[in-house]
Amino acid sequence: MTGTVVATAPAKINLCLGVGTQRPDGFHALATVYQAIGLHDQVTVSDADRTTVEVSTASRVPVAGVPTDESNIAVRAARLLAGHHGVEREVAIVIEKGIPVMGGMAGGSADGAASLLACDHLWGLHTPREELLELAGELGSDVPFALLGGTAIGSGRGELVTPLMTRGEYWWVILESPEGMSTPAVYREFDTMHGGSPVGDPEIPDALVQALLGHDVVALGTALTNDLQPAAFRLRSELAASLDQGRLESAFGAVLSGSGPSCLFLCESRAHAVQVAAGLETHNLGPVSFAPGPVPGAQVIARDAA
Ligand code: C5P
Repeated sequence: MTGTVVATAPAKINLCLGVGTQRPDGFHALATVYQAIGLHDQVTVSDADRTTVEVSTASRVPVAGVPTDESNIAVRAARLLAGHHGVEREVAIVIEKGIPVMGGMAGGSADGAASLLACDHLWGLHTPREELLELAGELGSDVPFALLGGTAIGSGRGELVTPLMTRGEYWWVILESPEGMSTPAVYREFDTMHGGSPVGDPEIPDALVQALLGHDVVALGTALTNDLQPAAFRLRSELAASLDQGRLESAFGAVLSGSGPSCLFLCESRAHAVQVAAGLETHNLGPVSFAPGPVPGAQVIARDAA
């Protein structure tokens, strides 16, 4: 029997991103709070004679930078899952991008998570959740969170995720940059700025957790932090002004998303997000969109057996 499975996975943002010293494996110790927001990539996997990957977009997201060979994370996810179970299966993968590419919103990780889940269903493997999360962690630091979704604390290099209790919904305006940014380059700049001297253990601000527990949008806006921001500003000086502009447009808080360059602006409602987005658009800083959070993690949305 051949078949097709379609899965989606959301973009992530970091409400705080505490970065520690570089570890012996080259990664940095992190203490972060992730939130999944309503921007999604969709991954379709179908039985095939050989594994292939195609990337397209229904929205305005440019996809030129996404690899279409074995290095694509959706292919790596399929291979990892097959290897884990000792099965020999090939899949045709189609990725539809809705998440900005190289925007600091874990678009690649979303593709990895959606591919893992879709292949698990296509091949009827029923991999236990904990095992899927471990495989996800092998693919990339943000992949486990793309499976989990919601709001969660991330530790280790970001791959260890624990759901965090929150109340209510938030609205985020996203200002994309016309040009993506390399995550390793931003981490390298972070290391250069700290001159190789040890940084303290990263921590999650208590004020942020309290704001989330109480659904206090004003307090959350003040508590948003990102240790990679100064490094990203050194590589792209215009980002600081973009964040200031969102605050001037009445956002409750402004922060860089992950390693950037996407900028995030916190709003109290959809109507507020529409207003902030419209204000930002008049400045022609880059594409502007908005989305609610938290939303669920990767999900199978369709399957079809032939
Ligand atoms: O895990 P992922 O593939 O997303 O990481 C991409 C790159 O980002 C790593 O190769 C590393 O340069 C940097 N990184 C890091 N510390 C982390 C996560 C990512 O230095 N905790």
